[in-house]
Amino acid sequence: MSRIAIVGAGPCGLSQMRAFSSAQANGADIPEIVCFEKQNDWGGLWNYSWRTGTDEYGETCHGSMYKYLWSNGPKECLEFGDYSFEEHFGRSIPSFPPRETLRNYITGRAELAGFRDWVKFGHVVRDVNYIKDANQFLVRAVDLLNQKDAEELFDYVVVANGHFSVPNLPTFTGIDNFPGRVIHGHDFRDAAEFQGQRLLIVGASYSAEDIALQSKKYGATSVTCSYRTTPMGFDWPDGIEELPLIDHFDGETAHFSNGAKRDFDSIILCTGYLHHFPFLTEELRLITTNRLYPGKLYKGIFWTDNPKLVYLGMQDQYYTFSMFDVQAWYARDVVMGRIELPSYSEMQSDIDNWQQREESLTNPSEDIDFQTDYCKDLSTRVDYSLDWDLAAQNFKDWEHHKEESIIGYRDKAFRSPVTHAHAPTHHTAWWEEMNDSTEIFLS
Ligand SMILES: Cc1cc2nc3c(=O)[nH]c(=O)nc-3n(C[C@H](O)[C@H](O)[C@H](O)COP(=O)(O)OP(=O)(O)OC[C@H]3O[C@@H](n4cnc5c(N)ncnc54)[C@H](O)[C@@H]3O)c2cc1C
Ligand SMILES: NC(=O)c1ccc[n+]([C@@H]2O[C@H](COP(=O)([O-])OP(=O)(O)OC[C@H]3O[C@@H](n4cnc5c(N)ncnc54)[C@H](OP(=O)(O)O)[C@@H]3O)[C@@H](O)[C@H]2O)c1
Repeated sequence: MSRIAIVGAGPCGLSQMRAFSSAQANGADIPEIVCFEKQNDWGGLWNYSWRTGTDEYGETCHGSMYKYLWSNGPKECLEFGDYSFEEHFGRSIPSFPPRETLRNYITGRAELAGFRDWVKFGHVVRDVNYIKDANQFLVRAVDLLNQKDAEELFDYVVVANGHFSVPNLPTFTGIDNFPGRVIHGHDFRDAAEFQGQRLLIVGASYSAEDIALQSKKYGATSVTCSYRTTPMGFDWPDGIEELPLIDHFDGETAHFSNGAKRDFDSIILCTGYLHHFPFLTEELRLITTNRLYPGKLYKGIFWTDNPKLVYLGMQDQYYTFSMFDVQAWYARDVVMGRIELPSYSEMQSDIDNWQQREESLTNPSEDIDFQTDYCKDLSTRVDYSLDWDLAAQNFKDWEHHKEESIIGYRDKAFRSPVTHAHAPTHHTAWWEEMNDSTEIFLS
């Protein structure tokens, strides 16, 4: 029987285990699976922790989650095809759940499937080496609690360690002498910390948008977002503005490239994350920016130089959990011999085609169609289905709602691509709702 190592038990690792457990439930013989997870529980980024910097074992903290984080896309765009929200919660729930509620859904499917004993918690993978003669991977992991190293051979390795954990940290002239706090979004935990402050946020994507709104909602005096390429351009509530990139700092004063200057108390760098694989040797390591179709991955999954190395969820993400599922289902079927991979040159030309199309995309609507087509391409070849066209339409409606009202888009309700039922609206407007507990959300 072949053996598979999975690095990480976040949503991607869970999707991979769910794919195999579902085949097993349908009577298939499945390979032996060992999932190494450095945290003490599964859920990946969805495990909120107060810790920043290093964890209880001295390892780097994985988490980038913060208090009061609500889903930034409708749940009807990320719903599992084989496990609806309605099935999990016993009824239809509003479209933008807070962090704790989403975690409950993600881990709920895993608990029900019952594969917890496939996971070695508190185990960090240090090295993955391909042993050519054996056509296997030698994986070295450390049992963090007992500080014991162990090496094991595997036929396949699934890389599912996420790519929103290691911050991208640019610097700016004069920032060393800025008198206030400077952090990256990865270390942001509680918006209330910035109450009464003049806050500078660098970046113009989802983290910048959400941390700006959170901070204003929980009492920051003013928030200025500084963009490098394009402003987000929303109709911001009073007290939030956008300016071009910082040229330099002079004490607490930031000088912007258009000549504007402002004084600040704190800075949050929302400048994205690095794809980071310290446990992979150079010939196995994906090097990419955060894009819709990273290179060298056939079907966005298989490392073309050695397709027994599988990467999940490495794309820039409109779709999340359902995309991770179709990738995992596809990978499972390749491992189990149900799908055959083509030659190296055919894989490369397939990647080239997708990347050429990606390079021609000009707006979010085309991006959404691109990633929808990608998910459909995978799902037509495996036993995984949902109404991808409805999910795509939900994404496009969501984009319009955000343009209409950046503080109001989370008050909308969508139709499930799994059950086709329409969600109820939430009892309180998101901008007014200060409590993000599951109990209040579901009440
Ligand atoms: C602040 C923030 C908010 C987000 N909000 C949303 C949202 O609202 N909706 C949405 O759909 N998506 C959201 N996302 C996107 C997020 O990427 C996905 O939801 C999802 O968590 C990705 O799953 P993953 O398994 O790829 O990675 P992760 O969730 O990052 O999980 C990776 C796992 O690998 C483990 N690991 C890492 N290295 C090792 C190692 N060497 N050895 C062993 N284990 C290791 C980690 O401990 C972790 O458990 C958000 C991301 C961020 C950063
Ligand atoms: N649920 C939620 O509410 C929520 C909240 C936060 C994050 N998220 C998720 O987290 C993930 C990551 O989002 P993200 O916004 O952190 O990363 P991201 O989407 O990769 O965006 C990175 C941003 O940093 C900017 N940047 C990079 N280098 C820079 C530099 N040197 N100077 C100035 N700006 C620089 C980029 O600018 P350019 O445009 O110029 O490249 C871009 O705006 C997404 O999947 C998102 O959905 C969700």
